[in-house]
Formats: sequence, C-alpha cells, structure tokens
Amino acid sequence: MSHLRPTQHCPDPPVAELAATPEPVLRHLRELLSQPGYDVFHGANTLVTIYATAPGDVSDCYLAGENLMLAATAAGLGTCPIGLSRPLMNQPDVKDELGVPASVVAALPVVVGHPAERPHATTRNPPRLLYRR
Ligand SMILES: Cc1cc2nc3c(=O)[nH]c(=O)nc-3n(C[C@H](O)[C@H](O)[C@H](O)COP(=O)(O)O)c2cc1C
Repeated sequence: MSHLRPTQHCPDPPVAELAATPEPVLRHLRELLSQPGYDVFHGANTLVTIYATAPGDVSDCYLAGENLMLAATAAGLGTCPIGLSRPLMNQPDVKDELGVPASVVAALPVVVGHPAERPHATTRNPPRLLYRR
C-alpha cells in the first residue's frame, strides 16, 4: 500500500476529527486543558507514537499499542494512550523535527513512565449486543 499517494489515501485525521467533534466535547476538552497544572502527558517523559503507513494499518497500530502497553506493564512501567496528542503528532513541522515521513499518520501516541500509583482495575460496562439470532 506504500505506493498510494498519501494525500489521496491518508487524509490528515486531525482535520476530519476536529470538524466532526461535537461542541459539548470541545467544551469539555477546553475546560480540561485550561485547568491549572493539567499535564496532558501525566508527567511521563516518554511518548511513543505508533504511525500507520496506510489507513488500513491503523487497526494494526492499535494491536501494536496494546502489546507495547502489556510489555511495559510487565516491566513495571505505566502507560496511557494520549489520543489528545494525535493532532500534534500529525503536524508537518513536528514530523519533520522527529524525522518521521510526512506520509505516515499518527494512530496511537502512548506515554510510558514510572507509575506514581497502581490503580485498581475499573469496572466494565457489559457489551451491547447489536444482533442476536
Ligand atoms: C484511543 C484512546 C485514546 C485515549 N486518549 C487519552 C488521552 O488523550 N488522555 C488520557 O488521559 N487518557 C486517554 N485514554 C485513556 C482512557 O482515558 C482510559 O484511561 C483508558 O482507556 C483505560 O480505561 P479504564 O480507566 O476504564 O481502565 C485514551 C484511551 C484510548 C483507548
């Protein structure tokens, strides 16, 4: 798939995402980010960003991200996906500074660091069955 023209097949997701973000979500984000002392990276000093070379690769990136998070946890580290930083990691000047090809698309940024605490697992919502025979 790498022969495909990125402008045609890898639209820059931040533009589409921002256009599609409902106003209440944007309001919530503005409030969150304007809180004094709020650190979008939760104090971690390492951000691993997994980039997709084609739109069809994005789901692979999520699988890679899960493996990264499991491996880091097994090594005693803490992780958190930072979807909020995806637009930043897709900025042409940021890619340029990092030496990342302009054609790839940031799929999943994940911070990795030494956890300040080991929170208990949260409860899970039951799955919603959309179809039952
Ligand atoms: C795609 C994706 C993007 C996320 N982006 C952020 C983010 O920008 N900032 C953040 O603090 N957590 C982010 N998270 C983490 C979630 O807020 C949540 O902590 C995580 O999914 C674990 O859920 P749990 O607390 O119910 O176990 C993201 C999670 C996913 C799956």
